[in-house]
Amino acid sequence: MPDIVLPQTRYYGSKRKIVDKIWNIIVNEADLEFDSVLDIFGGSASFSYFAKFHNKQVFYNDIFQFNFLIGKKLIEQSTNELTYENAIRFFEKVPEINYLKYISEYYNDIYFTDEENDQIDIYIQNVIAEENENIKCSALYILFQSCLMKRPYNLFHRKNLNMRVNYTTGSFGNKQTWEKSFQELFIRFINELNEVCIDNGRINTAHNYTALNCPITADLVYIDPPYFTKGSSTSYHSKYHFLEGLVNYNDIPDNINFEKKNREITINSSKEFENKKNFLNDLRSLINRHLNSHIVISYRNNGVPSIEQIGDLLRGFAEFEILEYNLGKYNYALNKNNKLNEEVLFVCKNINL
Ligand SMILES: C[S@@+](CC[C@H](N)C(=O)[O-])C[C@H]1O[C@@H](n2cnc3c(N)ncnc32)[C@H](O)[C@@H]1O
Repeated sequence: MPDIVLPQTRYYGSKRKIVDKIWNIIVNEADLEFDSVLDIFGGSASFSYFAKFHNKQVFYNDIFQFNFLIGKKLIEQSTNELTYENAIRFFEKVPEINYLKYISEYYNDIYFTDEENDQIDIYIQNVIAEENENIKCSALYILFQSCLMKRPYNLFHRKNLNMRVNYTTGSFGNKQTWEKSFQELFIRFINELNEVCIDNGRINTAHNYTALNCPITADLVYIDPPYFTKGSSTSYHSKYHFLEGLVNYNDIPDNINFEKKNREITINSSKEFENKKNFLNDLRSLINRHLNSHIVISYRNNGVPSIEQIGDLLRGFAEFEILEYNLGKYNYALNKNNKLNEEVLFVCKNINL
């Protein structure tokens, strides 16, 4: 088997850097046997991709449509049909189309420059009209990844274009990357797609349910939910609403929260797994939906609710033997406070399988 090349990502909470450790624990240390995987909080698809590479049948799921499209590209599809030349053509106006200018109109001075906003408006409308699903998913994939790279912190929770354009010196930030044009970044991401789109001979699918409404199950369910710490309260929705807006372009104006400085687009905002107080209840409900599977849960030692509370909840299920692993200190690329927190893995080994 060739060495694995994992897609690059600037996604908050991505397990890209530790997915090999997680996989090793599941397969070798906990010795789980499984043929299919449900990655129910799929995000950047790092776990799904690893499982696909190891020839499992993979079901990717995420609450957000933009993530679902990333899952479709990397997990459901097995090739990239978009060339760089065709990607660049999506920036050109087609004479018959009357283009809307929602990003230029509503997001002036918020996330991207005027020129970039114009580019996004044209590109996204051309891509939405594209009929070839493979080309469409590739075109969206390279746009999402490029938008993330051009943002300070790689997020959309703050109106902070000024930070990017006025940045001169200092230890934080990657001004050079922020200022790269979409065209430049597209070269990189098209090359990456050509490398990472693989066929594992299985029928893998991507889905777009909230975790508690997802009707799919599998031999192994991987749960990597949003984390909270004592201080943190920014939801995934707030971090990535802009990308969710782009895939729902025509609905943007009716869904902007003008009271927020970052003009959050409210589409697909949900409290499920995004509220510290309900987290344990949500987790209990989710586990109850997968009592015939092995379940693996990623968590952190500084999370709220605590590791002990999660462990107590899991030990309440008679169906599982609970194994707990500490993956050691690990700092997420996007966590700038330099506090090393420990990554924990709960393996709930189903004793009936
Ligand atoms: C910690 S991240 C997962 C990261 C992922 N394992 C990776 O490696 O990129 C949590 C993910 O859960 C998604 N999410 C949040 N609430 C959800 C819900 N109720 N149902 C399904 N997905 C949800 C977020 O969009 C986010 O992608």
